[in-house]
Amino acid sequence: MLRLGSLEVALPAVQAALSGYSDRAMRVVARRRGAELCMAEVVLDKLVLLKGRLRDRMLALGPDDHPIGGQLMGAEPDQFGRAAAELVEHGYDLVDINFGCPVRKVLGRCRGGYLLTTPSVALDIVKSVLDRVGGRRPVTVKMRRGFDDSAESERNFFEIFDGAFDLGVASVTVHGRTVEQRYVGPSNRDFLKKVKGRAGDRVVLGSGDIFSPENVADVMGETGVDGVWIARGAIGNPFIFREARALLEGAPLPLPPSIAEQRRALEEHLALTAETHGADRAGIILRKVGIRYADLHPLRDEVRGVFIGVRTCADVEAVLQRWYDPAGEWPPVERRKVMDRVAAGALLEE
Ligand SMILES: Cc1cc2nc3c(=O)[nH]c(=O)nc-3n(C[C@H](O)[C@H](O)[C@H](O)COP(=O)(O)O)c2cc1C
Repeated sequence: MLRLGSLEVALPAVQAALSGYSDRAMRVVARRRGAELCMAEVVLDKLVLLKGRLRDRMLALGPDDHPIGGQLMGAEPDQFGRAAAELVEHGYDLVDINFGCPVRKVLGRCRGGYLLTTPSVALDIVKSVLDRVGGRRPVTVKMRRGFDDSAESERNFFEIFDGAFDLGVASVTVHGRTVEQRYVGPSNRDFLKKVKGRAGDRVVLGSGDIFSPENVADVMGETGVDGVWIARGAIGNPFIFREARALLEGAPLPLPPSIAEQRRALEEHLALTAETHGADRAGIILRKVGIRYADLHPLRDEVRGVFIGVRTCADVEAVLQRWYDPAGEWPPVERRKVMDRVAAGALLEE
């Protein structure tokens, strides 16, 4: 059980915020396979405040998409707080503050990970969000373990971490990499252990290098964090949630997803993507998602190759007919092994 203020979830493995991926389609496909709390993609506060049809479409949620956390990025406390209130109005169950994004353009605009260098502005943002949300929803923070490896950066981290809890946030998610590190090198589990050691009863979630159900249980066990975010490990693998759930409940690990199950997940992902983004864009979106689903297929390299050529919904359907025929003769499906590819530099943020 994971308690984030007034929100309680049974599964402490959260579908991470993933720009370009954790849209309604990814979230709903994951929920149908065991995910519970899911995070939407980060949105810029000023876009949330631009009233209109486009904004409403961007923030729209279905009844089958709860509990959901909305995440905001910005640089100016008042604007950030007003955007947080909009997320509450739009039905988000939790408001998360992004102090971690390492993208150069974001840092240049003093947003995301940049705020780890300015604790007083970061805490003004937290305060503004808490004031505007006014206790109607839990407010949480996501941060990297620092801007860089300096002692000053670590001091700033703890100033923001302790300060945010003192102000009243329900939890902090810590990604065990620095902003400077981006995605190069491992996420630091020792740092997560140190943070949770200091935090005591305050709720800390860990993020970084969670690619299997065993990683979920190991990180929680080794560091003491109350839960984790599953990020790159969930792209193209919604089945990881049912696996994590089974492992944490002490139940036998489900078999790897059969070809029929993989096909069903891809069909749902395509249909939900067409519903959300329109049929014109769904094919190209399924291209990048399908490339990751291919990791589960026993003929990974061939299937990955055909997904690279996908452009339209009809292309996706042709791949499903040819490569995901449940009646076909396929080699046995094995558990997805992504760690080797991560070590080789694949799966970096796009
Ligand atoms: C493509 C991509 C997009 C991401 N978008 C977000 C985001 O919108 N908000 C956020 O807090 N983190 C974002 N992250 C960071 C992840 O949520 C997570 O903290 C990070 O990937 C570390 O976990 P992992 O090593 O298990 O992937 C993103 C990561 C990737 C790879």
